[in-house]
Amino acid sequence: MARESESGLPIEPVYGPESLAGWDPAGRLGEPGAYPFTRGVYPTMYTRRPWTMRQYAGFGTAAESNARYRQLIEHGTTGLSVAFDLPTQMGHDSDAPLAAGEVGKVGVAVDSLDDMRTLFDGIPLDRVSTSMTINAPAALLLLLYQLVAEEQGVSAARLTGTVQNDVLKEYIARGTYIFPPAPSLRLTSDLFRYCAAELPKWNTISISGYHMAEAGASPAQEIAFTLADGIAYVRTALAAGMDVDAFAPRLSFFFVARTTLLEEVAKFRAARRMWARVMREEFGAREPKSQMLRFHTQTAGVQLTAQQPEVNLVRVAVQGLGAVLGGTQSLHTNAFDEALALPTDKSARLALRTQQVLAYETDVTATVDPFAGSYVVERMTDEVEAAAVELMSRVEELGGAVAAIEQGFQKGEIERNAYRVARETEAGERVVVGVNRFASDAEERYEPLRVDPALEARQVRRLAELRASRDGAAVDSALAALREAAAGDANTLYPMKEALRARATVGEVCGALRVVWGAYEPTERF
Ligand code: 3HC
Repeated sequence: MARESESGLPIEPVYGPESLAGWDPAGRLGEPGAYPFTRGVYPTMYTRRPWTMRQYAGFGTAAESNARYRQLIEHGTTGLSVAFDLPTQMGHDSDAPLAAGEVGKVGVAVDSLDDMRTLFDGIPLDRVSTSMTINAPAALLLLLYQLVAEEQGVSAARLTGTVQNDVLKEYIARGTYIFPPAPSLRLTSDLFRYCAAELPKWNTISISGYHMAEAGASPAQEIAFTLADGIAYVRTALAAGMDVDAFAPRLSFFFVARTTLLEEVAKFRAARRMWARVMREEFGAREPKSQMLRFHTQTAGVQLTAQQPEVNLVRVAVQGLGAVLGGTQSLHTNAFDEALALPTDKSARLALRTQQVLAYETDVTATVDPFAGSYVVERMTDEVEAAAVELMSRVEELGGAVAAIEQGFQKGEIERNAYRVARETEAGERVVVGVNRFASDAEERYEPLRVDPALEARQVRRLAELRASRDGAAVDSALAALREAAAGDANTLYPMKEALRARATVGEVCGALRVVWGAYEPTERF
């Protein structure tokens, strides 16, 4: 009796030569680092350089987060990843009424150039690559980062990192949008063009499937809807007059790694092959870098349990192994206690050590794409790809990703799958160790990391000092210039940078754009 995979595909008890009858390794796989990149984006993959160990972190004010980043660097992390609090993500200042109670909670509060300077105090920006999980106001945080680099004497051309900048998935699954789709996509293509001119090594977007997966998407849905969003961004940049090979090499992606390792490895390999084909055949991309799907992975937050939290160490290790066997370029491993609270220093270190064991104690970095030729994984790669291609054509029939979002298609499909998973878990058909099987009564006491509520008042005071100490007239005229650019066709990032340099705040800059573009109101279907 065949089990069903997360994508609803059969998993046969035994696979053999007949499972790959007629299968053409050369056409389906190609060589590592060559089209269609099924086996990985680089010829040598981890045999030359392990993936970037990039732990998502940030809480409190810039000072607390700066301390955490220095600790992570000291413990061997090889890339930074900034979590911002909700007010920053939604383009509100820490002293905005909407921000009360949220300042510094799920990430770091950044209101201004002063905060960004503190966030990277003592961290040389020409020596790290920094990911920033910021979407609607991605342009502002990128510019603040560039302004701090300028103060450090680091030229923009040397900056490496990524802004998530993927507002479409915010309408589908995460919710930190600000402006309606059209101006949001305009800001996205402004950022593409600005980076092509000013920050050539910066990854301009991290097209994300992770949050859709966390909302319940299956592996096939995750890559289908993510690649469909990617197609929408490429079309937007082309419509804005950019050449595909001028921006496509700096697109990147972000996926989840579930505990179901075999299908996850198949999912990553299928996604690379699909994207390579789309970029070469649909968009005529000639540069190999334009056809490469480079991605970051985070282990599945929703699969962490609050019960017997130590068991999460095993889940994260298996999930991290799946991401590595699938060829990820960058990896975040969740801390075992994240179902309970923000990671403590100790649990954050343990999460990083998990990656270091995978990289330096196992042999999975000794060879490229170890599952190549495996009856089950090659069969699953083909089957997950076929299921995802079918879903992408349904999105296309609805008019593409944006139109499908506005019709609630992706959200509806994900919610149906989430309901199926919940029902199976409820019924005990889907085992969650420690929760619906092998549960235990005695749970040791756990001391979560508490974010000091007094820090919100400190942050609000710093904002008042900033406003009192800056040149208000310069800020006002810079914001007026930004409003003028937003109302016209000029690239908004140049006047935006001058406003931020004059120490306009994130809330004031987003407020200026809200005046011109309005704020997004979800349709009743959401
Ligand atoms: N052979 C040759 N070159 C190699 C190589 C190899 N084996 N391995 C690496 N390199 C080179 C690369 O070409 C690159 O050089 P380049 O930039 O000049 O091309 C350099 O070494 C760095 O390698 P990568 O680009 O592969 O690795 P990075 O870590 O720098 O970038 C990325 C990875 C996926 C492209 C990038 O976009 C990235 O870092 N993304 C991270 C996104 C992230 O962290 N998101 C967090 C989200 S958390 C969230 O959403 C919130 C919560 O809700 C979950």
